[in-house]
Amino acid sequence: MSDQVLERDGQLTLDIDPDRLLRRITELARIGADQATGGITREGFSAADRQARTYLMQQARAAGLLPSVDAAGNIVIRTAAAESGDQVLMMGSHLDTVVNGGRLDGAYGVLAALEVVQTFTESGLKPVHEPVAVAFANEEGALFPQPFWGSMAIAGRLASLPKDPRDHHGRPLSEALRQAGGDLDALGSACWPPGSITAYLELHIEQGPVLERSGSRIGVVEAITGRTVLTVEVRGTAGHSGTSPMEGRHDAMTTAARIVLAAEHLARDRRLCRVMTVGRVDPYPNTPNTIAGTVRLTVDLRDTSVWRMAGAEEALRRMLQTIEAATGTEIEVVAETRSDPVSTSPGLCAAIEAGADGLGLPHERLPSGAGHDAQVVADIAPVGMIFVPSLGGISHVPQEDTAPEDLLAGARVLLRTALRVACTDHTPPAGHSRPVD
Ligand code: GLV
Ligand code: MN
Ligand code: MN
Repeated sequence: MSDQVLERDGQLTLDIDPDRLLRRITELARIGADQATGGITREGFSAADRQARTYLMQQARAAGLLPSVDAAGNIVIRTAAAESGDQVLMMGSHLDTVVNGGRLDGAYGVLAALEVVQTFTESGLKPVHEPVAVAFANEEGALFPQPFWGSMAIAGRLASLPKDPRDHHGRPLSEALRQAGGDLDALGSACWPPGSITAYLELHIEQGPVLERSGSRIGVVEAITGRTVLTVEVRGTAGHSGTSPMEGRHDAMTTAARIVLAAEHLARDRRLCRVMTVGRVDPYPNTPNTIAGTVRLTVDLRDTSVWRMAGAEEALRRMLQTIEAATGTEIEVVAETRSDPVSTSPGLCAAIEAGADGLGLPHERLPSGAGHDAQVVADIAPVGMIFVPSLGGISHVPQEDTAPEDLLAGARVLLRTALRVACTDHTPPAGHSRPVD
């Protein structure tokens, strides 16, 4: 590690400001908060999301940093010393949430990245690689059904983005993106070329029970699960619920119910993939005394093997054809997202472990069952992920939480890992974005 930050006895002198980080986490959690449930709803490109983005930009400016919004709506926070053309160390996560989610998923990683960049700047360090903090736009895809929207743009996956993106109510993204400071017609300008990012680090809550059960304070993510999200539209025949005999109906709702159970069966009983979930169902006209004419639903399918993901999707599609024939409905399937499972960079895993060792924090390696922007950035840069324990192993619910000392421990490990990467001229080996088999 650079002797710019080491005292003579070899101890690290640099630290994050713990009160500032915890204060920002608390302040950000007020935006989109629902007093009744205690949850947070900050869907990507919603009004609450815009408010959170404004908060982050203000905090960055007040810290003397340079925040800007790219065409995809990502917030990119650079240091005053930025010199274009140099390889950067990127850190970040997302500010958007699911509906009625928790305060830490994504937000923690963004604020910790800001904290680390601010700490670098205040120290007067001259790193080889400029540290850059990023808040990726619409990671969750809760309102606009394109998760990883911002990281896909940064990684140059423009061809995989929808041409006319719309939210679940049919409203176009172009206007919401403009309000957030982006520009749908200039998406190409958001791409970072391969080689421009020496490494990407993401700090995140685990969202599962592994670390809490084992007592490890830090998780070193070895692989991130792959994810396919399918939108399934069932078209049946609407009709009067009282006068239409049960025989001869083409009920989109009962067809959707079969699909929900089929998805569960494929993952749970036939074990074709790790998990499959129908999380959203939109029936139309959604009224008590009319047979549903159409139902749109989402199937979220995950595994750490590309082959198992492909096999499970194929089995689901075959199952849908059988259900279509049996119910006399029409079923259309559109793949909204396909993100391959990826392995993280072994070099960055080792750097994270060294950071945790330096702090005396027990750590372990584990895979991530949740999706993260890191798996998309892995297309263009080596990526590393740090997890901290989730209380009760839960997430995407208002009760999602992590002990403050673990939040600080994670941010300190991020700082140490960032120092190791940013202050050396050694680029972690690339090529670790290959799908995991
Ligand atoms: C992101 O939160 C995911 O759904 O894994
Ligand atoms: Mn999430
Ligand atoms: Mn997240």
